[in-house]
Amino acid sequence: MEKTFLMVKPDGVQRNVIGEIVSRFERKGFQLAGAKLMSIPTELAEQHYGEHKERPFFGELVDFITSGPVFAMVWQGENVISTARQMMGATNPKDAAPGTIRGDFGLTVGKNIIHGSDSPESAVREIGLFFKEEELVEYNKNINE
Ligand code: TYD
Ligand code: MG
Repeated sequence: MEKTFLMVKPDGVQRNVIGEIVSRFERKGFQLAGAKLMSIPTELAEQHYGEHKERPFFGELVDFITSGPVFAMVWQGENVISTARQMMGATNPKDAAPGTIRGDFGLTVGKNIIHGSDSPESAVREIGLFFKEEELVEYNKNINE
């Protein structure tokens, strides 16, 4: 079953949209496999955003993501990686379509509400950074069979 790592960023937690965001993925039909409210240590933030290390916004990005609690989640389901990215909308909320999470709740690229893995490789990497195997549940596939 395909899995992805999604995270409500500190701005989303502060603005009380955790429930709204969880609800959107639930209603879409995805299954929640793990979740926790946590503060991100600087070292984990730098690892998570390692691909952006040389970018001019890296320092601000790490400062922001460590500025308050985040809600880290693993979701599963068919094509969940790309579908979740569509449901999130464009990186910059000013370009994100209405109806997407960033389009509906975000204003600026620095505070864009949600993170989502962008590929199968980054999903595996990011799930491994944030969750231990025993923190993820398995649903009983045969319950109605
Ligand atoms: P990126 O991985 O390009 O976007 P996404 O979150 O859609 O995968 O960038 C990571 C985060 O870095 C992005 O969510 C917000 C921040 N960021 C900036 O602050 N300024 C920028 O110019 C870009 C491209 C990203
Ligand atoms: Mg990215």
